[in-house]
Amino acid sequence: MSQPAPQPLATPAIDRKWWHTATVYQVYPRSFCDSDGDGVGDIPGIISRLDYLQSLGITVIWLSPIFTSPMDDNGYDISDYQGIAPEFGTLADFDRLVAEARKRGIGIVLDLVVNHTSDEHPWFREARSSTDNPYRDYYIWRRPSAEGGLPSALESTFGGPAWTLDPQTGEYYLHLFSRRQPDLNWENPQVRAEVYRMMNWWLDRGIAGFRMDVIDLIGKQVDAGITSDGPHLHDYLQEMNRETFGSRDVLTVGEAWSATPTSALLYSGRDRRELSMVFQFEHVTQFWDQTYGKWRPRPFDLIALKAVFGKWQTALAEDGWNSLFWVNHDLPRAVSRYGDTTGFHVESAKMLATVLHLMKGTPFIYQGEEIGMTNVPFTSIDQYKDIETLNMHRLHVEAGLSPDDFIRGANESGRDNARTPMQWSSAPQGGFTTGSPWIEVNPNFATVNAETQVDDDQSIWSHYRKLIDLRKHHQVIVYGRYQSWLDQHPDVFVYSRTLEGDRLVVLANFRPHEVTVTMPDELHVQGRCLIGNYTDMDRIGETVTLRPYEAFALLCDLEKV
Ligand code: GLC
Repeated sequence: MSQPAPQPLATPAIDRKWWHTATVYQVYPRSFCDSDGDGVGDIPGIISRLDYLQSLGITVIWLSPIFTSPMDDNGYDISDYQGIAPEFGTLADFDRLVAEARKRGIGIVLDLVVNHTSDEHPWFREARSSTDNPYRDYYIWRRPSAEGGLPSALESTFGGPAWTLDPQTGEYYLHLFSRRQPDLNWENPQVRAEVYRMMNWWLDRGIAGFRMDVIDLIGKQVDAGITSDGPHLHDYLQEMNRETFGSRDVLTVGEAWSATPTSALLYSGRDRRELSMVFQFEHVTQFWDQTYGKWRPRPFDLIALKAVFGKWQTALAEDGWNSLFWVNHDLPRAVSRYGDTTGFHVESAKMLATVLHLMKGTPFIYQGEEIGMTNVPFTSIDQYKDIETLNMHRLHVEAGLSPDDFIRGANESGRDNARTPMQWSSAPQGGFTTGSPWIEVNPNFATVNAETQVDDDQSIWSHYRKLIDLRKHHQVIVYGRYQSWLDQHPDVFVYSRTLEGDRLVVLANFRPHEVTVTMPDELHVQGRCLIGNYTDMDRIGETVTLRPYEAFALLCDLEKV
């Protein structure tokens, strides 16, 4: 019998996942929609807006924490992982949310905050009661140093030492965030088992996955000064995968401020059995000040920004998967940071969305981004609610720095910029609440709101809807190979995506003025304009003149190029 002729090597089959074509929408429950007039958003409020989200086209909601909490850090300090905070509703409300969302083709992803708990969690109450309590080892305790002071110089992300002395037992406990957020001890197998049991309990309720808060910190080894990327981090994640979601078809995304393209492949590599993807923050942190960090952000540099996106697109081209985002509940509003909120608000918001959503990865939209919500113009520290901003303000003032400079920095990059209430309409309080909101509504709600945008096919909202829809219908957007062009051009972002016979070419002007660009020969193409924020363009010649913040994407047939 003759052997079959050898086949040419096929391109590796794409390992398709449902979340490759998904667009995720982040809801910050406190600020989304208040159904009962107490000034705080809640789960029934979210349910009342599911139709809005369905018509936008998103298929996943990432819910920031809704669990029982003293709200020292707005729910990122959990005192009962299986309870719902009363101001947000009840477990029955949550089950209804999952069911109603499912009817609309939307899955619910929960926020898993297991690097730390609240100091009001029963585990911590027990743990602090005596050194031989069975829960003691759920947390990280150290004796005072030989001189009787802090065990080490570790700092909390929210400012000040990461250690607090607990008078009851005379030992310090570790908290990488506020003193009310004691860190769990992941080296203790009982802690891990409790977390996995809790995760399965939520998975059994039909959720679509987890966003994992500061997950790069769980492998910390404090005595060695290691906080992120500890030696057992990936062992824990593989164990978590095995014990919980590994057998279910869910989306998992780890928040990892320390992630590099190399570590992202460890988290999200095909054969690693860890997570679907991570959030990396290089495009954010590279523009922070060396000394003052985000409180004195530098203007962003487009060449550097393109280099970061390009690096991640390339590094995860064959294996792993990218998340794509401009904003979340910890970051300033995209249009304020990278666009223009005065002359070209609509154009620049659409441009930013186009650039991000047509890259390879899963896009995340943060509530209000789809209507171009902007940073807040607060003038006094009393208007801020965020624990990090308040702590840092105190430390800056104590260090003799100017309070006005601090407010300027907070207005540019503080976390409350993202946390002002969702602007639904021009009704009082932007339609967010009939009561008095927990944080002031941005005064521009009369002009920037959802109601005026949903029926306007030229609105920012309609542009987002179109982008979400395009991803569902064009494989080249989901899987096409990314290639950047004109890397050294200071004003425009140009990239292409190629899959089989299709090439998508994306052009974007990041400036409030016209820019004329000489295009590389390979990009003199003709095609169909899939989306644009001015009139449709159907060809790219030797030069292209882009209007202020113009962006468009042409789909070309490579055989006809
Ligand atoms: C994450 C959250 C942030 C929170 C912190 C501590 O960075 O996104 O909001 O304050 O973790 O849980």
